[in-house]
Amino acid sequence: MILKNKRILLGVSGSIAAYKVPELVRRLREQGAEIRIVLTSGGAQFITPLTLQAVSGSQVEQQWITDTVQPISQESSFGHIELARWADLIVIVPASANCMARLAHGFASDLLSTLCLASDAPLAVVPAMNQQMWKAPATQDNIQCLDKRGTLIWGPDSGVQACGETGAGRMLEISEIIEKINAFWQEKIFSKMCLVITAGTTHEAIDPVRFLSNRSSGKMGYAIARSAQMMGAKVILISGPSALSCPTGIDYYPVESAAQMYQTVIEQITQADIFIAAAAVADYRPVQAQVHKIKKHNDTMHLELERTQDILAAVAALPEAPFTVGFAAETQDLEHYALDKLQRKKLNMIAANPVGKNLGFDQEDNCLSVYWKAGKKQLPRMHKTQLAQQLLQLIYTEYQKHS
Ligand code: PMT
Repeated sequence: MILKNKRILLGVSGSIAAYKVPELVRRLREQGAEIRIVLTSGGAQFITPLTLQAVSGSQVEQQWITDTVQPISQESSFGHIELARWADLIVIVPASANCMARLAHGFASDLLSTLCLASDAPLAVVPAMNQQMWKAPATQDNIQCLDKRGTLIWGPDSGVQACGETGAGRMLEISEIIEKINAFWQEKIFSKMCLVITAGTTHEAIDPVRFLSNRSSGKMGYAIARSAQMMGAKVILISGPSALSCPTGIDYYPVESAAQMYQTVIEQITQADIFIAAAAVADYRPVQAQVHKIKKHNDTMHLELERTQDILAAVAALPEAPFTVGFAAETQDLEHYALDKLQRKKLNMIAANPVGKNLGFDQEDNCLSVYWKAGKKQLPRMHKTQLAQQLLQLIYTEYQKHS
């Protein structure tokens, strides 16, 4: 666990998004982080110290201080200097316009701004405010000033806001903030490398309203893409239809069918050091997609199907093939079929998962048996994000031996 024993100081300033902080605290602690929280007087208008205390238990390493409730001289065990030195990372979440203005101009007007001045720990701000406040020249100047000083700026997102307006200024989702924090400590093993990743299902048209498809949600492939990005890679994600949105900073190519996925992979693959085929690509497509909706005249009907191109095998057969990693989704004889695909498609590695009821497809977690010519490794059932990180570590180790 990357966050194990990492000391994260969360600064909570005045924004409606403060109500999401308890969830953030809970999930960071689950990942082994030590958390302390400093609440500004603005933050305390939206969430109480008691709420934060209740959600995080009563561990000694936690402390809630409001600059209004407790003057600095009466802080229980930690003064601002101790807090400033304690932190490995300071994350201000949510960061209001007012809070960022105080930071940009070096104010020491409350506990949070004081300890930011007194700390040499890296500082991240997660802005959350009304879209007009975000756009305001003063806020933009303050952001630029913080950015120049090396402050990490995470977000904001765009969309409908709590006030009903639409635009940039929404706080990032909690899961995205957790990913950013993980990425901060993640070793950048793939820096200067390009990973091309396929994800999701494909749609093979039968007629204008119907298609053949499968249950892949894209969660596994997107988790690999996000984790590879965290590990420093340039990532090209080629995805079939999926309800997931592509994280910022990833080159994203949405496609529909196996043929389009094949075409896009072939166009992008020259850049790739590593290719990972996590997509559940249709093996067959209708020979002829009908121009008009098929009418139900008969009790039975026959659909003639033809094989799609095997994208994975085509990449592995390229004269200058990247390090090629396939997936195998099996309901039986997992090892047997996986090893067969590894050899037949001439892959460097294959990650096999059992699929079926509550397994693999559209689940939050998954397990993998990974095989390569000289070895194998079991990755037990865990969240797809963690699984992706472990798979990528393994791929990197074998890639290094190979190149
Ligand atoms: O998307 P999720 O809901 O998170 O589910 C994840 C997953 C179960 C889909 C994923 O972990 C997975 O197993 N993906 C591969 C599924 C698959 O199609 O397996 P396969 O055994 O049928 O194919 C073998 C390999 O050949 C795969 O790497 C596949 O991408 C590739 N292939 C298959 C057919 C084809 N025409 N072209 C290909 O490249």
